[in-house]
Amino acid sequence: MATAPAKLILCGEHAVVYGRPAIALPLADVRATATVTANYSTNEPIINAPDLGGRWSIAERPDDPLSGLVKTVIERFGISPQIEITIRSAIPIASGMGSGAAIATAIVRELLALSGQTLPPAVIAGLVYESERGYHGTPSGIDNTVVAFEQPIWFQRRSNLPPLIEPVAINVPLTFVVGDTGIRSPTRLPVGAVRERWQADPVRYEALFDQVAALVVAAREALATGDVPALGHLLNTNHELLREIGVSSTELDQLTAAACAAGALGAKLAGGGWGGVMIALTTPDRATDIATALRAAGATNTLVTTIAPAAAFFPDR
Ligand code: PMV
Repeated sequence: MATAPAKLILCGEHAVVYGRPAIALPLADVRATATVTANYSTNEPIINAPDLGGRWSIAERPDDPLSGLVKTVIERFGISPQIEITIRSAIPIASGMGSGAAIATAIVRELLALSGQTLPPAVIAGLVYESERGYHGTPSGIDNTVVAFEQPIWFQRRSNLPPLIEPVAINVPLTFVVGDTGIRSPTRLPVGAVRERWQADPVRYEALFDQVAALVVAAREALATGDVPALGHLLNTNHELLREIGVSSTELDQLTAAACAAGALGAKLAGGGWGGVMIALTTPDRATDIATALRAAGATNTLVTTIAPAAAFFPDR
C-alpha cells in the first residue's frame, strides 16, 4: 500500500496561476491510499474507488484523469495491466485539500513500488500534473508538487522554465483549525471565473495578484522567524484579497469571521474557494474553542492539525 498526504495552500492561491508565488503545506495525518492487487480476469487495469463512488476498467473510462495516469505509468514502467487498484481517501473531494493530487500520487507511488523503481518527487509531481490537468484545465502545479514533496513549499510558475520550487523554513510548530463549508466546489469553476475577470480587467487583477505576491513574500519571512502573529495578519489580508478577486462566499466569510471572533490569529479560505475549506491559525490552547465556534457558524466538519517545524532544504531530491 502506498499513501500520499492532503495539502493546504497557506497563501497565494489563484495569483499562483498568474506567475505569483504561493506557499503550500502537506497535511501528514490526512491521507489517500492506493493498493494494487493482481487480477487475472482482466486485461485492462481496474480502478476501484469506493469513496469516489466507482469501479471501472481504464478502457471503460478512457477520459477519466486517473485512467490516463494509470495507462501512462504502466506503459512507461512495463507493469502488467492485469491489476486492480483500490483507492481509499480520508480527504474530502473538491474542497481545496488536494484530494485529486493525493489520490494520483498514491497511485503512482504504489505502481512504482510494484515495479521496484523509485523516482524523485519532482518527476512524480510531473506525472500527476498531467492527470490534474484533466480535473481542472489550467492547474498551476502547486497541488501535485506539495503532495509529492511532502514538505512546505514555495511555488512559482515561470514562463519557458520549469516552476520554481523551494523548501520553506518553518521555525515553530503551527496549529491550524480547518473548517469545511460542506460545499463542494470543483477548482476549475472559480479558476475559470477569475480568468474571465482578469481578461475583462487585467490592470485591476494584475494589481490584486501583485498584492497577494507581496504578502506571500512576507509570510515566508514570518515562517522563517516564527512570527506567528504576523503570519495571522497576513492570512487575514490574503482572505480580503481573495474576496476582492471574487472567490470567497458567504459561508467562507462567516467561518473566517467566526474563527477570528473565537481568538484565531488569522483566517482565510484555502484553495479554489466558493466552497471547500478555510483555515484558521491559532495558538494550540485556542484550537478547540475555534473548532467549536466554526461548527456553530455552520462548518460541517473541523480538523485541528499541527505543521511541524521544517528545515529549508529538500532531503530527498
Ligand atoms: O485544488 P485547490 O482547490 O486547492 O486549488 C488550487 C489552487 C488554485 O490556485 C486555486 C488553482 C491552481 O491551480 O493553483
